[in-house]
Amino acid sequence: MILPGESDEAIAAAVQALRAGELLGLPTETVYGLAADAASDVAVARIFAAKGRPADHPLIVHVADAEGVAHFAAQLPDFAQRLIQAFWPGPLTLILPRRPGVGQAAAGGQDSIGLRCPAHPVARALLKACAAQGLHGLAAPSANRFGRVSPTTAAHVRDEFGDALLVLDGGACQVGIESTIVDCTRGVPVLLRPGQIGRAQVEAACGQRLRSQDELQAPDPRASGTLEAHYAPSAKLRLMDARALQDGLDLLGREAARLAVYARVPLKSPSAGVILRRMPEDAAAAAQELFAVLRALDDQGVRLIWVEAPPDTPEWEGVRDRLRRAAAA
Ligand code: TXA
Ligand code: MG
Repeated sequence: MILPGESDEAIAAAVQALRAGELLGLPTETVYGLAADAASDVAVARIFAAKGRPADHPLIVHVADAEGVAHFAAQLPDFAQRLIQAFWPGPLTLILPRRPGVGQAAAGGQDSIGLRCPAHPVARALLKACAAQGLHGLAAPSANRFGRVSPTTAAHVRDEFGDALLVLDGGACQVGIESTIVDCTRGVPVLLRPGQIGRAQVEAACGQRLRSQDELQAPDPRASGTLEAHYAPSAKLRLMDARALQDGLDLLGREAARLAVYARVPLKSPSAGVILRRMPEDAAAAAQELFAVLRALDDQGVRLIWVEAPPDTPEWEGVRDRLRRAAAA
């Protein structure tokens, strides 16, 4: 059931559901989450079951404010404190050492925990109402089945899990791709997942160089956001440059069918069976619509999606990352 997220009654109903150990579709500025009380191992197990996600994969725990951090984190390095100051509330997740005994299941059994304070007004209102009732955090992975494209509208969440799930409608997500994740447990900041907040911003805020995972040994294979085949539409996705796209369309000619092309450059096809869709020139605008476009193309029954490879520039890093994973599926 989809309820208007800005209504006080809906927030109250959501808190009640969460206290009863139920799941909730939660709007955030990045993507919609599938939320449960992070303190309840039973409720958290329901997330894993609903998503079809292996139970040793760590989830992100959403907190109302920096005080929520004290509940879940054993310690906060100076550079992590500076990141919180600079970017919370907002699309940044920090991996921190976990306080023993809290959020065990949400953390997938790891001795660290991913924490994020979202900026979306509905998420903020809900987290505040939860905190007032003693719920210190909501475990919430993206509200999609394992390996599928993340949802950016309430309707997407319903499409994934059906109408029995309570979903707070917060409109279309503004950022559109998942939060930037910085691991703060290794003494130096390490980028685990690129997002709207870019490397340069992170480095400027924490005053340290941001390491990449492959610079350091022992990358964590359980961090499923870092698996290659992820964020995939049902259609096969291929990344190509602009020239190859037009050449491919010319080659297929009128025979082309059930093919979609998503590109920044204008293209032409002689076939009515080809869906041509323009990608915004602006990286943030492209991120905002990316998952909704992939879902819409799936719904239109295309078998193949050709995507123009985004520029190799910092502002496109998040979109490039998601597309690369989708193409690897
Ligand atoms: O934007 C977002 O972050 C969205 C919205 C709903 O907030 N949430 C999200 O959650 O993307 P999820 O569960 O799909 O992403 C979880 C990822 C894991 O795949 C892993 O990469 C990282 O977060 N993660 C979480 N806890 C971790 C931990 N303790 N150690 C290492 N990585 C962790
Ligand atoms: Mg996800």
